[in-house]
Amino acid sequence: KNINLLINLDDIEEVAHQVLSKIGWSYYRSTADTGSAYDNNFAAFSRYWFRPRVLRPVRDVDTSTTILGIPSSMPVFVSPAAMAKLGHPLGEINITKGSATAGLIQGISSNASCTIDEIAEARQEGQPLIFQLYVNSDHRITEDTLRKIDKLGFKAIMLTVDAPVLGKRELDMKARGLPVRGANNSGDQGTALRAGVANSLGGYFDSNLKWEDLAWIRSITNLPIVIKGVQCVEDVEIALQYGCAGVLLSNHGGRQLDYAPASIDILWEIRQRRPDILDQKKLEVYCDGGFRRGSDVLKALCLGATAVGFGRPFLYANAAYGEEGIVKVAEIMGEEIATGMRLLGVNKISELKPEMVSRLA
Ligand code: FNR
Repeated sequence: KNINLLINLDDIEEVAHQVLSKIGWSYYRSTADTGSAYDNNFAAFSRYWFRPRVLRPVRDVDTSTTILGIPSSMPVFVSPAAMAKLGHPLGEINITKGSATAGLIQGISSNASCTIDEIAEARQEGQPLIFQLYVNSDHRITEDTLRKIDKLGFKAIMLTVDAPVLGKRELDMKARGLPVRGANNSGDQGTALRAGVANSLGGYFDSNLKWEDLAWIRSITNLPIVIKGVQCVEDVEIALQYGCAGVLLSNHGGRQLDYAPASIDILWEIRQRRPDILDQKKLEVYCDGGFRRGSDVLKALCLGATAVGFGRPFLYANAAYGEEGIVKVAEIMGEEIATGMRLLGVNKISELKPEMVSRLA
C-alpha cells in the first residue's frame, strides 16, 4: 500500500499484519493470557471526554515540548520494544534514523535486535537516546551495560519493573518463534509452555530486583532514572522518594499482568490522590499502552502526563515501511495532536489542563 494513502495508525497496523511473518506478527501483537489488559488499554480512552474551550486564537499551534529537559517535536516518544528485525532487516536502526528526522526521543530495548554500538553509530549528531534496562540476574553483566551506555552518551535509563518474570504470551507461544538474534538468548523451545520469541529473550531477568537496588544502579551511573511499568499511586510515591526523574505508567502493552490497569486510569488515580506530584512536576509522569490517536495523547497530557510512549505502532511502521514508516507515524501523530489542540482551544502544550477532561462515572 502506498504510504501516502495512510490516514491513521490502524492503517499501518493493517499493512504490518499483511507483510510480517507469522512469528513476527505473533510476537508483536501478542498479549498476556485473555488479552483483557490489552483490550482495556483501548477501551479506557472512551471513559474520558474533553471539555474544550472556544474562541481562543489557535491559528498558530506548537506541539513541541521537552522530556527530561530534552527537546521533542511532540509529547510522544518511542517506547522501547524488542526485536525490530523481526519486521525489517535493518531493525532498530530504521527507528533511530526515522526518529532523528521526526525529532522524537527513542527508547532502546535491552532486547534490541541491533547492538547498542550499531544503534549509537546510526544516530545523528546529538540525537537523544534512552536505554531501557532489564536487570540481569548476574549483576556484573548489567554493570557493564550501564557503563557502556553512559560512555555512548545515552540520556537516561528506563528501568523496566513490570517484568520480574514474563507474562504468558499466548499468540507468541502458539507461533513457537525463535528470535532472529537477541541479546542474552537463552533459547529453549522444548515445550509449548516455554515456546515463543519472548520466552527465548526473557530468561535472564532478575526476579528479585527491589527498590533498594536503585542505590546500586546509582553507584554505577549518574544518568536520570525513569521507572517503567509503575501501576499505582503508591509506587509513584516510592519512586519519588528514591529520587527518580520519572515514571512511565504502563502495563507493557497488555503483555505482562492480565487485568493490569490502563495507564490513563493510573494517571487518573494520581490526579485524584496526588495532584501535587503532577502539578508541581515533582517527577515526570509518562503513559503508554494503546495510544493510537492524537486525542489519546491529549487526554493524558491534560491530566498531567509529560509525554506518551508508542510501542507497537513504531514496530508495525518499521515492518511495513522501514525508516519512512517511522516518519509517517510522527507525521500522522503531529497532525492529529495539532488539530486536537486547536479544537480544544490551546496553542501550546503547557495550556492543556485537567479541567479540559472529564471522566465518565
Ligand atoms: C514491548 N515492550 C517492551 N518494554 C520494555 O521495557 N522492554 C522491551 O524489551 C519491550 N519489548 C516489547 C516488545 C514488543 C513486541 C511490544 C509490543 C512491547 C513494551 C513497550 O515498551 C510498551 O510498554 C508497549 O508496547 C506499549 O503499548 P502499545 O503502544 O504497544 O500499545
